[in-house]
Amino acid sequence: MDISKLNEIKEKAIERIKDAKNSDELVEIRNVFLSKKSELMSMMSTLGQMEAELRKEMGQKINEVKMNISNALDKKVQEIKELELQKTLEKEVIDISLPAKGKESGGKNPFFVVRDEIIDIFLGMGYEVMDGPEVELDHYNFELLNIPQDHPARDMQDSFYINENVLLRTHTSPVQARTMEKKAGKPIRIICPGKTYRRDDDDATHSHQFAQIEGLVVDKDINIGHLKATLELFAKKMFGEKREIRLRPSYFPFTEPSVEVDITCANCGGKGCNICKGTGYIEILGGGMVHPNVLKMNGYDPEVYSGFAFGIGIERVAMLRYGIDDIRKFYTDDVRFLHQFKKKI
Ligand code: DAH
Repeated sequence: MDISKLNEIKEKAIERIKDAKNSDELVEIRNVFLSKKSELMSMMSTLGQMEAELRKEMGQKINEVKMNISNALDKKVQEIKELELQKTLEKEVIDISLPAKGKESGGKNPFFVVRDEIIDIFLGMGYEVMDGPEVELDHYNFELLNIPQDHPARDMQDSFYINENVLLRTHTSPVQARTMEKKAGKPIRIICPGKTYRRDDDDATHSHQFAQIEGLVVDKDINIGHLKATLELFAKKMFGEKREIRLRPSYFPFTEPSVEVDITCANCGGKGCNICKGTGYIEILGGGMVHPNVLKMNGYDPEVYSGFAFGIGIERVAMLRYGIDDIRKFYTDDVRFLHQFKKKI
């Protein structure tokens, strides 16, 4: 073993490091020159047999060569890493001139589609849109609508009570009383869309929260013909020109007479099928002529004024319109449900 051999190894290693093109090659070079099996390391193992003086000199020299090779390797590794990074950066340039992939837009919940359509129909007939509180006084929700304490109609409209006199409104009808109070004897032609609440078991057709659109017209010489014509126009605009309506006698404490309004079944055209349970008709809303007591209690003289009112269940109309079988689907915002209406709407 001599110094010239060591220099030779060093030069060979440095030369190969200089020519290396990628990190794989550098790993290979490190293996060849610095691993346990390398020439340099085997020279190291022969040191023990040398005389002390020479051992010291050779030992130092071997270490020096090892350090030189190792440093050169580290430096080159760094260089190559930077070069490789440079290359990937060049390859992965983002072309900002490419057209965007586009975001998928959601669809309007069919509940709102139907609500807005109903509002539009009545706006077209000259109605004004009113608003009223969802947390309502017993006074407006029941008393002023001719439903005094202990009236059996209250049983069907149990609600969530804040205290004895304050509750979540069970229908939008209290807006009738609030509007009469506000208009103070002047003619009225309003609708009021809004949320309503009842202590109902949640099932496919009932929810503890749902929505209605209230309608109220008060003026001189208003008769039930006006009510019928108005609702007929509404039904045809909402469900199609071919639909007919019929009025059935019913009962609401705040109207007299009261009616239930049906439309001819879209499925069978009035002949009778399983959807309309053989009747040819499907119920869509309730209404009637404003009860004289209600007019009186709210400041309108029933001898001078008359009026009609109606209440439309928004979800019910939407369910009939689109054949939706479960009311709860409106509230859960499942995109699989919403997507189905995106095209139809
Ligand atoms: N408030 C009634 C309900 O929730 C619906 C209703 C019926 C409203 C007749 C009216 C009406 O204005 O005249 O069951």
